Amino acid sequence: MTSSNHSGAHGAVIADTAAGGEAGALVELRNAGKSYGNIRALHGVSLTVHPGRVTCVLGDNGAGKSTLIKIVSGLHQHTEGEFFVDGLPVRFSTPREALDKGIATVYQDLATVPLMPVWRNFFLGSEMTKGAWPLRRLDIERMKRTADEELRNMGIVLDDLEQPIGTLSGGQRQCVAIARAVYFGARVLILDEPTAALGVKQSGVVLKYIAAARERGLGVIFITHNPHHAYMVGDHFSVLRLGTMELTASRDRVSLEELTNHMAGGTELAALKHELSQVRGVDVDRLPEEKDLTAPVAAPGEGTS
Ligand SMILES: Nc1ncnc2c1ncn2[C@@H]1O[C@H](COP(=O)(O)OP(=O)(O)OP(=O)(O)O)[C@@H](O)[C@H]1O
Ligand SMILES: [Mg+2]
Repeated sequence: MTSSNHSGAHGAVIADTAAGGEAGALVELRNAGKSYGNIRALHGVSLTVHPGRVTCVLGDNGAGKSTLIKIVSGLHQHTEGEFFVDGLPVRFSTPREALDKGIATVYQDLATVPLMPVWRNFFLGSEMTKGAWPLRRLDIERMKRTADEELRNMGIVLDDLEQPIGTLSGGQRQCVAIARAVYFGARVLILDEPTAALGVKQSGVVLKYIAAARERGLGVIFITHNPHHAYMVGDHFSVLRLGTMELTASRDRVSLEELTNHMAGGTELAALKHELSQVRGVDVDRLPEEKDLTAPVAAPGEGTS
């Protein structure tokens, strides 16, 4: 594993356990929760992010995934429990404060300007300039060169950085956003459902760059509905259900089958089957059994008899 160029830039040091957080962890939530008025969206959730590891957060709609990352990214504050960065307790009031600690979030509706070239979007809001005021102007050559180098460093090859970013595929745009976060010094990269709207091939490309970010020593929080995607790159898995942590396990403790079962929720499938039984024209007896529904599509290797 290569170490990150950026660790140290933000003063990353081995955490002092006396301060309370886990030693070596970039981000740690301990029994954290969040209530919106009297709606309790999240309760008793613990999560740790280590450098060079991918932590996957899975869960159905409304499970609390976005609420969780909003706490870490500084958009919302936790109302219970503890939150540590580099072992020190924190409470962010703005996303800027999280960013200053090296916590970058790539949202699904990427904040890009579709008609502007790729390199321009790469530097959006943090443009390079040259010359002194009043003659200061954009350093276009340097921005183009740097964007090109950084994308190549992540293994992202685009034919032409002059093309409007809107002409790239959704997967490619996600990749540019990941490379951008890495370049601007992210130590923790949060990805909110980056593969949700993508087909199989493009999802594969995004998963590849998640792995590339990990290789560069970043701690990644990967939010997804898809246990297959999670299992391809994840080192640790946390499944949320109705705002609480239903499962938290490292890769050696959980199989893809178990993860899929947790996500599919056998009892919920039974309820769904019951509802379908009330719809005319659906022959419930001919629907697959629960265990068939929750089984992975094609498990390579050993099959169950
Ligand atoms: N600003 C808010 N005010 C009140 N309730 C909220 C707010 N944001 C989220 N909630 C509630 O908190 C719960 C968790 O929502 P959250 O958006 O975190 O789920 P999610 O796992 O991200 O779901 P999805 O997969 O649909 O994005 C839901 O019941 C939701 O209605
Ligand atoms: Mg969400």
